[in-house]
Amino acid sequence: MLRLLGESGPSTALQSFLVFLGIFLLVADYMRRRKPQNFPPSPFALPFLGHILTRDFRNPTKVIQELTEKYGNIFSLHMGQMSYVFVSSIPMVKEVLVNQGENFLDRPDIFRVDVFRNCGLTSSNGHTWKQQRRFALSTLRNFGLGKRSLEKRIQEECRYLTDAVGEEQGHPFDPHFKVNNAVSNIICSVTFGDRFEYHNEQFQKLLQLMDKLVELYGHPLNQLYDLFPGIAKYVPGPYKNISKIWKMLNSFVCDIIAKHKEDWHPSESRDFIDSYLQEMAKDDGSGCFCEENLAACTLDLFFAGTETTSTTIRWALLYMALYPEIQARVQAEIDAVVGQARQVALGDRDSMPYTNAVIHEVQRKSNILPFSVPRMTTRDTTLGGFFLPKGTVLMLNFTSLLFDKKEWETPDAFNPEHFLKDGQFWRREAFIPFSLGKRACLGEQLARAELFLFFTALLQKFTFRPPPDAPLSLRVKLGITQHPLPYRVCALPR
Ligand code: HEM
Ligand SMILES: *[C@@H]1O[C@H](CO)[C@@H](O)[C@H](O)[C@H]1NC(C)=O
Ligand SMILES: *[C@@H]1O[C@H](CO)[C@@H](O)[C@H](O)[C@H]1NC(C)=O
Repeated sequence: MLRLLGESGPSTALQSFLVFLGIFLLVADYMRRRKPQNFPPSPFALPFLGHILTRDFRNPTKVIQELTEKYGNIFSLHMGQMSYVFVSSIPMVKEVLVNQGENFLDRPDIFRVDVFRNCGLTSSNGHTWKQQRRFALSTLRNFGLGKRSLEKRIQEECRYLTDAVGEEQGHPFDPHFKVNNAVSNIICSVTFGDRFEYHNEQFQKLLQLMDKLVELYGHPLNQLYDLFPGIAKYVPGPYKNISKIWKMLNSFVCDIIAKHKEDWHPSESRDFIDSYLQEMAKDDGSGCFCEENLAACTLDLFFAGTETTSTTIRWALLYMALYPEIQARVQAEIDAVVGQARQVALGDRDSMPYTNAVIHEVQRKSNILPFSVPRMTTRDTTLGGFFLPKGTVLMLNFTSLLFDKKEWETPDAFNPEHFLKDGQFWRREAFIPFSLGKRACLGEQLARAELFLFFTALLQKFTFRPPPDAPLSLRVKLGITQHPLPYRVCALPR
């Protein structure tokens, strides 16, 4: 060995060392990424990187298409140290959400920032999640989910919104921030006890930051986090900006909490934060009612309660401008059932099957959370004959439900008839945009009330038309949610 070294010189020694190092790293990488036996199949993965090139799984590449065809409804992809199991089809998704619900209750660390490390509603697990969720549900109910008071609050906001849209006088405008503000005001009044004027610059800035977040999580370079979670924090790039924005949103929420503490009165509770402070006062240390969870829950509600609903309404206005005959039928139904003299109320919904079907079709076709929100196994389990150890991350392919060729007559068309049968509203099994089971969307009732009231209020007062100079596009922008490209419409007063 020594002689060899001496004869061939140092450069060859370096070469052999590098070859040896290379093999060592490949083996180490193989060991690190070795999957348990009978794990869902996956295509060939690059050493170190895994399936980095196929990360944009919302725009399925040929590889994914072939995989689905080859393996059916369950397969896995690996990014750096992370494995994701993709699940498609109604029976398999229901197996996860309902039949085996208890085995899939956990959530992986989706936001990847300290504020949410096992805190709050969306990202916590186990006992903390159970407690926070139960408390949030019952408190939201107290503040009006399913009660008249909240309906009144939404109707009041509808008037602010239609006034603000009226100010545009039929000229082309981007409805984005008015709609965003109106929707956000509902969850703000429930959690903070306050709404914000559409001209409030500080609040508008905050809403823009939230939009930026949605976009940043979809940034291609964000996958670096999967590869190098330890250093993503320190290198410039999307992750750095993501954590900066969460810090700003968090400090906004913490200021509001501090104000609530100043003028808090133990015997009266004005909003979610007040109720939480009461619960904290009762907590003897055994519960998880602490300031960290209060901030995380408030942020969760603020974020989840704004982005999804407002994105859906923006899709709805776009579809109305693109399908004038459908818009006209909705308006005819509003005129027949409600007229122009009063505001639409939730009680009108059952008498307005066509409008209800249109809202459902907007949700189906716009498919704003194509992979729901990731779940994680709470214990070792099996699915479709494959083994999933505790801690496996699952991506549920909602596209495969909402666009299933066997389920929908014309899956790729915008067609409200999908939700109508003999002129009556028709509930469809494959339509689960709010998910199912114990961890389904916590705001479904609120969201459905908002969608119905905002949408009908806007169509009662205006007809939406494409601007004369710019064609409207249904192209999507990717982020946490699937949202439309920025667009402008004309809202012509009726
Ligand atoms: C069109 C509007 C909305 C859609 C499509 C939607 C959809 C979803 C989906 C698919 C999930 C994941 C459920 C699962 O893992 O099974 C979720 C979770 C959640 N949503 Fe919504 N959502 C909407 C509006 C809202 C609103 C208005 C709120 C405000 C209260 C809200 C609060 C939440 C929370 C807190 C979670 C996490 C629940 C948990 O992890 O226990 N959502 N939503
Ligand atoms: C992050 O923020 C900086 C300045 O705050 C900006 O210059 C940069 O373009 C942002 N990066 C991304 C990916 O948005
Ligand atoms: C999700 O489902 C759609 C429709 O069935 C399919 O085209 C797509 O390839 C699936 N994507 C993944 C990642 O499973």
